[in-house]
Amino acid sequence: MSLTNFPGGGGSATGTPATKVTMPALAEMKRQGKPISALTAYDYATSRLVDEAGIDMVLVGDSLAMVVLGHDNTLAVTVDEMLHHTRAVRRAVRRALVVADMPFGSYHGTVAEGLANAVRFVKEAGAEAVKIEGPRVELVRALTEAEIPVVGHLGLTPQSIHRMGGYRVQARTAETVERLKRDALALAEAGAGALVLEGVPREVAAAITAELPIPTIGIGAGPDCDGQILVFHDLVNLTFAPAAKFVRRYGDAAAVIRSAVEHYREDVERRAFPSDEESYHLPEAARRALEPKTEAARKLHTLRKA
Ligand code: KIV
Repeated sequence: MSLTNFPGGGGSATGTPATKVTMPALAEMKRQGKPISALTAYDYATSRLVDEAGIDMVLVGDSLAMVVLGHDNTLAVTVDEMLHHTRAVRRAVRRALVVADMPFGSYHGTVAEGLANAVRFVKEAGAEAVKIEGPRVELVRALTEAEIPVVGHLGLTPQSIHRMGGYRVQARTAETVERLKRDALALAEAGAGALVLEGVPREVAAAITAELPIPTIGIGAGPDCDGQILVFHDLVNLTFAPAAKFVRRYGDAAAVIRSAVEHYREDVERRAFPSDEESYHLPEAARRALEPKTEAARKLHTLRKA
């Protein structure tokens, strides 16, 4: 197995040292009108590729419950599972901001419980920020006071699947648009450093982005947000399901992996793998020492091989 080597400190497609992305850096990007690129990632290898491609923010999303662990929705994933994946991502990423999703149930009780769980993500897994769904203003304030940067998440919040009655576009009436705007402003005032806006009409995301002092990161929220995020497995076609309207597939990893694995199986079945070049060999002296010594033994050896 070939292992880690980070040329020049890692983090950029060109191999040149890259400046670490921090939460204040995201705010600066908004000020400068520079789009923020974000992707989910859940393991060492893909996180490393994502980071080396120059993505600004890596989210260890609770979507891992679905795309990595095979659950029907995001609700089942636990804090310990999220910590396990966050550690792997943390080991891979040098440049991007590493954000860990707080899973369902880990911040839905008291503020003290939410704070204690968030501390675990920073202390035990190296997260640089946590993401929480919904307008949990009190919790965002407490996390901010505890020096834990927070990414908010409003609109279609997958952990609310049962309340929403499915994954549906949110904020489609004047009243719900106003509520969403109020919630977004309240989260920003409480100290959130960025806000994911998911599954909302383009016009709504554009208006909130214009009003909010913190960056918005859109997913299914149109092109006017300060940044965009996608689920890694959607981007490379590893989801085994039709893509949602907002997904653009930039590659077909399923086809690449399927073809590689099928070729490997075929080669094993027809004894074409491994070749002699792919085999280890005895040193000459040891090989000669093991050769049959007498003419009779040589003949027997040849007969056995025939
Ligand atoms: O868990 C996740 O992947 C997310 C993104 C969709 C923003 O929360």
